Amino acid sequence: MAEQDALGRALEIARGYAATRGSRPVWATATLAELRAALGGPLPASPIDPTDVIDALARAAEPGLVTTTGPRYFGFVTGGALPATVAAEWLASVWDQPAALYVMSPAAAVVEEVAAAWLIDLLGLPAPCSVGFVTGCHMANFTALAAARHELLRRAGWDVEADGLQGAPSLRVVVGEEVHISVIGALRLLGIGSRQIVRVATDDQGRMRPESLEVRLKPDTTAMPTIICAQAGNVNTGAFDPLDAIADIAGRHQAWLHVDGAFGLWAGASVALKHHVRGIERADSCATDAHKWLNVPYDSGLVFVAHPAAHRAAMSLSAAYLLRSADEPREPMDWVPESSRRARGFAVYAALRSLGRTGVADLVERCCRLARRFAERLQQEPSIRILNEVVLNQVLVRVVPPSGDADAATQAALKLVQDERVCWLGGSRWHDMEAMRISVSNWSTTDADIDRSAESIIRAARRVL
Ligand SMILES: Cc1ncc(COP(=O)(O)O)c(C=O)c1O
Repeated sequence: MAEQDALGRALEIARGYAATRGSRPVWATATLAELRAALGGPLPASPIDPTDVIDALARAAEPGLVTTTGPRYFGFVTGGALPATVAAEWLASVWDQPAALYVMSPAAAVVEEVAAAWLIDLLGLPAPCSVGFVTGCHMANFTALAAARHELLRRAGWDVEADGLQGAPSLRVVVGEEVHISVIGALRLLGIGSRQIVRVATDDQGRMRPESLEVRLKPDTTAMPTIICAQAGNVNTGAFDPLDAIADIAGRHQAWLHVDGAFGLWAGASVALKHHVRGIERADSCATDAHKWLNVPYDSGLVFVAHPAAHRAAMSLSAAYLLRSADEPREPMDWVPESSRRARGFAVYAALRSLGRTGVADLVERCCRLARRFAERLQQEPSIRILNEVVLNQVLVRVVPPSGDADAATQAALKLVQDERVCWLGGSRWHDMEAMRISVSNWSTTDADIDRSAESIIRAARRVL
């Protein structure tokens, strides 16, 4: 009975929360001290009824929640959680399926297999392509680069899984100047330090310059195992590296081409936007997030590798007790760095099934249209400059007073926007300029939300002049 009551209470609280997504404060309202007081205290000496635990938890946590699923949350690149995906996550929790091996949950294994095939088709990725369901794009980058490391060293006659990196042939890793920090973090875990990475110049939007890449790869050392990390969707500007040209160069140098497409990869789902990722079908690996643009709840990332044997060799582990199925060739844990993990494939499956091909395209295109609307509104204000070409869902906003310090004005205006709390915006520094950073990534954002938020930014810009 206690279990039913706790679940029932959670459902009630969740329904109330979801219903007020658009009207509740976007920012947390409690201070750190208040949250510590509400949630803290000594470890309970004895059990507490589950329903009371849920009640108290919800009451104490509520003022400390940021409405990331709300329509005016434009921070980082955070997607809202689609209704079908939240419900699927609940079921995944109730079912509590470890998605490591087929025998642990045949349903979780098959759902991954089905969703993987849908994703390859939807995103225009090369087939055959192996897919891993990881925590986020950071881990997707890690997994893909581990497969790259395996394959390039194998071609050089070295077994990195058995012999490690000490004494191994050198790997050359080339990235754009605007590489996302998670690629650097992933390489660090793989034994490649940040000072060993070769950086290639980027243009005014943060796109890798193919001619600089070519120069960085000279003299022609096709014998040197090389990984090129390109990017689909710059975290500030949304810009895409020219993948087609980079794939040509990678081909000439027999390099492994990895594409970090945390959110930009989803452009491939839209007929109107897929030109941005032309060439992706020639990538050796790519990484993306489902918790960004597919609007699946955290945490959910995806890795795709066009060399399944390398992918599996880099990740797979075996032990006598880890029972492999005789009739299921795709064991979920063979494609990810973890062993035990929750069955995050259910939510990805639910997202794809509930949106369908046209629904994903519509979600991506709508966010891009709303980002353009945001930029157009803001640009009408004389003191506001949009720093990037709004090619996707990202907008960089700067306040430039007629005289004086634009960095200070931008920071002051951002603080006012944050204090007004109509919308959630963060800041960034881009090309030596302070900027407000907007990411439109939520299925529930409307024109009216954009206009209200733009007005808040314009009010702030006027106040700091
Ligand atoms: C381009 C890019 N790559 C990788 C990541 C890391 O993704 P996550 O934090 O979901 O692991 C991000 C996050 O914003 C990103 O924008």
